[in-house]
Amino acid sequence: MSDFSSTETVDPTISRATRAATEALGVPALVVDDVTVQFGGIVALNHVSFTIEPGTIHALIGPNGAGKSTCFNAITGVYRTRTGSVTFGDAVLTKLPASRIASQGVGRAFQNLALSPSSTVLDNVMLGRYHLTKGGFFSAALRLPWTMREERRHKERAAAICEFLGISQFLHTPAGLLPYGVQKRVDIARALACEPKLLMLDEPAAGMNSAETDNLAELIKDVRDEIGVSIMLVEHDMSLVMGVADHITVLDFGKRIADGVPSEIQQDEAVIRAYLGAEEDEITDEAIEAEIAAENAAAGTGDIAAGEHVGTGTADADDVSSGAGASPVDPESEKTR
Ligand SMILES: Nc1ncnc2c1ncn2[C@@H]1O[C@H](COP(=O)(O)OP(=O)(O)OP(=O)(O)O)[C@@H](O)[C@H]1O
Ligand SMILES: [Mg+2]
Repeated sequence: MSDFSSTETVDPTISRATRAATEALGVPALVVDDVTVQFGGIVALNHVSFTIEPGTIHALIGPNGAGKSTCFNAITGVYRTRTGSVTFGDAVLTKLPASRIASQGVGRAFQNLALSPSSTVLDNVMLGRYHLTKGGFFSAALRLPWTMREERRHKERAAAICEFLGISQFLHTPAGLLPYGVQKRVDIARALACEPKLLMLDEPAAGMNSAETDNLAELIKDVRDEIGVSIMLVEHDMSLVMGVADHITVLDFGKRIADGVPSEIQQDEAVIRAYLGAEEDEITDEAIEAEIAAENAAAGTGDIAAGEHVGTGTADADDVSSGAGASPVDPESEKTR
C-alpha cells in the first residue's frame, strides 16, 4: 500500500471539454471547513478542512481507522458534526438531514452494496430517482396518465444511465444474480440516477480483481469527463487513486496530514510515515507469536482456549448496522446542537 513510487499520476489540469460540462451542470465546490466528529471519547475527525473543486476527482485516503468513512458520512448527513460545516454552493449540508442531501445534488454509492438483490437492475436504479418523481403514492396507484408519462420518462433516463455504465444488457435481471463488479456498477448507476453534481464513492474497488479495478478507473474518469460531476473517492487501492485522482487529501488518526496533487502526496514524508507505520503495526512480534500459538493450538500442541481471537481484525465501522462502538448518529435528533 505504501508503494507510491511505481504508479502513474494524471495531469491535474481538467480538459476544456470537461470544464464545459461541469459549468453546464452548474457544479459548485464542496467545502469541508474545520469539521470535527466525535463518538463518545473517540475523535474520529479532528478539525478537518479541504475543498473539492468543481469537476475534479478528489480522493480521500489514509490508513484503517483514519476517519475516511466518518468524513464521508459527515458530508452525506449520516453523522452530525461537532464543529465546522460542509457547504455545497449555497447549501449548508451540515444543517440538513441525510434525507435531503440527495436533493442538493450529492449522490452516494455505498461501501457495502445496498442493492435489493431480488429487484431488477432497472428497479434498483429507479430508486435513485425517487426524490425527482412528482407523482405521489396515490396518483401512482391510480395510474393517472401523467404519472404514467412521468414514470416512462424516468425509466428511459435510468436505462440511459445503465447504458452509459455498460450494464444495459442486465436491465431486467435481478441484481443479486450478477457478478460483484457488475453490482458495483449498478450501485454507481443508482447514485448517478439522482442526477448528482457530486458523486461520492466509498471504496468502490473493494472486493474487485485487478481487471475489474482497471475498468472501474476508466469508468470513474468517463463519468467525470462526460457528465462533468465532481467525484469524491474514498479508496485503499493506491494504483486506482494515483491513476485517477486530480487531488488527494490524506487523513491519519482523524487529522488531515496532507493535501495536494498526487505527485506531492507520493513524496510527502508524513504520508509515507503514516502508511509505513500502519504496515508495521499490522505485523508486531506479539501478533506473530499469537499466530504461532494459534497454529499450535489448532494442531493440538498449544494451550490457547478454543474460540480465542488471534490477529488484528477490526470491526467495520462503516457497517452502521453492526452496532460496534458508539451508535450511529440519528441525524434528526443529533443535528440540533
Ligand atoms: N459508529 C461508530 N461508532 C464508534 N466509533 C466509530 C464509529 N464509526 C467510526 N468510528 C471510529 O472512528 C474512527 C474512524 O473510523 P472510520 O470508519 O471513519 O475510518 P476509515 O478511515 O474509514 O477506516 P477504514 O479504512 O478501515 O474503512 C475509528 O477509530 C473508528 O473505530
Ligand atoms: Mg472506511
